[in-house]
Amino acid sequence: MKNMRSSNAFSCYLKSSNFLVIISIYFISNANGFKLNPLIQLPTNGIYRNTSSSSKSTLVLNILHFGAKGDGFTDDTKVSGTIIAPLDPESWDGFDVHKWLYFHGVKNLKVEGGGMIDGMGRKWWARSCKTNHSNPCTHAPTAITFHKCKNLKVRNFNLVYSQQMHMAFTNCIHVVASNISIIAPADSPNTDGIHISSSTHVELKDIIISTGDDCISIVGNSSKIRIKDIICGPGHGISIGSLGKYNSSAAVVDVIVNGAILFNTENGVRIKTWQGGSGFARKITFQNIWMKNVSNPIIIDQYYCDSPLPCHNQTSAVSIDDISFRGIKGTSATDNAVVLKCSDSYPCKRLYLENIQLTTLDGTEKSFCWEAYGTSSGLIYPPSCISSGEIIIQHNMKSNSTSWKKNEYAFF
Ligand SMILES: *[C@@H]1O[C@H](CO)[C@@H](O)[C@H](O)[C@H]1NC(C)=O
Ligand SMILES: *[C@@H]1O[C@H](CO)[C@@H](O)[C@H](O)[C@H]1NC(C)=O
Ligand SMILES: *[C@@H]1O[C@H](CO)[C@@H](O)[C@H](O)[C@H]1NC(C)=O
Ligand SMILES: *[C@@H]1O[C@H](CO)[C@@H](O)[C@H](O)[C@H]1NC(C)=O
Ligand SMILES: *[C@@H]1O[C@H](CO)[C@@H](O)[C@H](O)[C@H]1NC(C)=O
Ligand SMILES: *[C@@H]1O[C@H](CO)[C@@H](O)[C@H](O)[C@H]1NC(C)=O
Ligand SMILES: *[C@@H]1O[C@H](CO)[C@@H](O)[C@H](O)[C@H]1NC(C)=O
Ligand SMILES: *[C@@H]1O[C@H](CO)[C@@H](O)[C@H](O)[C@H]1NC(C)=O
Repeated sequence: MKNMRSSNAFSCYLKSSNFLVIISIYFISNANGFKLNPLIQLPTNGIYRNTSSSSKSTLVLNILHFGAKGDGFTDDTKVSGTIIAPLDPESWDGFDVHKWLYFHGVKNLKVEGGGMIDGMGRKWWARSCKTNHSNPCTHAPTAITFHKCKNLKVRNFNLVYSQQMHMAFTNCIHVVASNISIIAPADSPNTDGIHISSSTHVELKDIIISTGDDCISIVGNSSKIRIKDIICGPGHGISIGSLGKYNSSAAVVDVIVNGAILFNTENGVRIKTWQGGSGFARKITFQNIWMKNVSNPIIIDQYYCDSPLPCHNQTSAVSIDDISFRGIKGTSATDNAVVLKCSDSYPCKRLYLENIQLTTLDGTEKSFCWEAYGTSSGLIYPPSCISSGEIIIQHNMKSNSTSWKKNEYAFF
């Protein structure tokens, strides 16, 4: 972010009957690269709707009309405050329901604030099929999405009560997100904290997340992800996946989670894949993690099934290889302190456990392994159930069958 030349910012005030909305987002862009278009489009609620046009009306704010200069010298970021989403889901009628604040194709952008972004999610959560099974399953907006971004810095603000996911990076390269706090209730549906998809070189640090779904989730085709100093709870923990849904292909490679505290979460550190998928999760390390009252502190699940219908066993799977868990300590809320449920056709390979100490209050902690191969060192409690040695698997190439044959074991 060294070559930043021009800066643009917008701050604007919108009056409504019961609150003042102040928007202040700071943009810095490289004058040689992406040319920032200083317009932002927001869904409108009734108050702001442009009645002279159809229901597709949009509120367009030009930051230059609010005093921003965008000349690279003037500080255009004087006001910090709150960005509040429209209260009613109906405000999205005619708009893309996946999006609220949406940044597409930005390069060398810095988003920082000191303020708060409030998704006003309650009405969305109430209509979720996870909240009430008689509701149809529909989508809700991700509060902030960065799509196709390059060289992005996001930091110093609070993000609360998103309609669905809080912040997503999709198809991004070189992202640093830091000093952010994300808050939603434990029972809010699908409100992942930070979601990373098809992105590479992403660094997340100093982030506090309390939410109703994964604090952090990393999915398909992502690599070189560094996650550091995270506090997560309540929530569903830090997840790789889910991967391979609807027989899809996904690759996640080179992820390090180093330094996290998880408390009262449904899972701790997790890799979850659907049967029928393909691709791999490889070279992933979880280390220096404290767990407090976490239901499944360490879990690999290649039988993940988050659907109302039962999932059938299939031979194809997203393979799991070279996964390390080091220095993971604390308390488990259930007996299942360590669960490594791997696929029959694609067993987990090169798992590594080092210095694990997970206990329950009543001493009933245990490890569960299924087709889990690898090694361990240091103190491992509950005792490791990983099959020692490395499994050498040979693909059966003769037919279309995707089954893998386990025919040889190399023990150390
Ligand atoms: C409202 O929409 C009409 C038609 O799209 C446009 O001509 C007009 O400038 C808009 N007014 C405002 C205040 O945005
Ligand atoms: C669930 O939704 C149905 C249909 O929308 C509604 O009749 C029912 O009252 C809701 N139940 C609860 C517990 O909110
Ligand atoms: C973190 O962000 C908050 C605003 O949310 C700000 O007040 C604080 O100074 C930031 N801390 C650091 C270390 O930058
Ligand atoms: C990952 O890449 C593969 C191959 O290019 C593609 O088929 C798949 O849809 C991608 N998955 C995701 C989640 O982007
Ligand atoms: C996934 O593949 C299996 C086996 O080929 C097939 O039975 C199943 O219908 C496929 N599922 C989807 C969602 O395409
Ligand atoms: C442990 O976590 C569960 C949620 O997983 C929560 O309901 C329970 O109150 C927590 N217990 C303590 C002692 O915090
Ligand atoms: C699927 O495979 C797992 C592991 O082999 C086995 O425990 C389970 O019973 C199987 N489920 C069905 C429905 O066959
Ligand atoms: C493999 O599957 C494809 C598509 O399902 C089929 O067209 C092909 O004949 C199969 N090949 C063999 C050797 O079974």
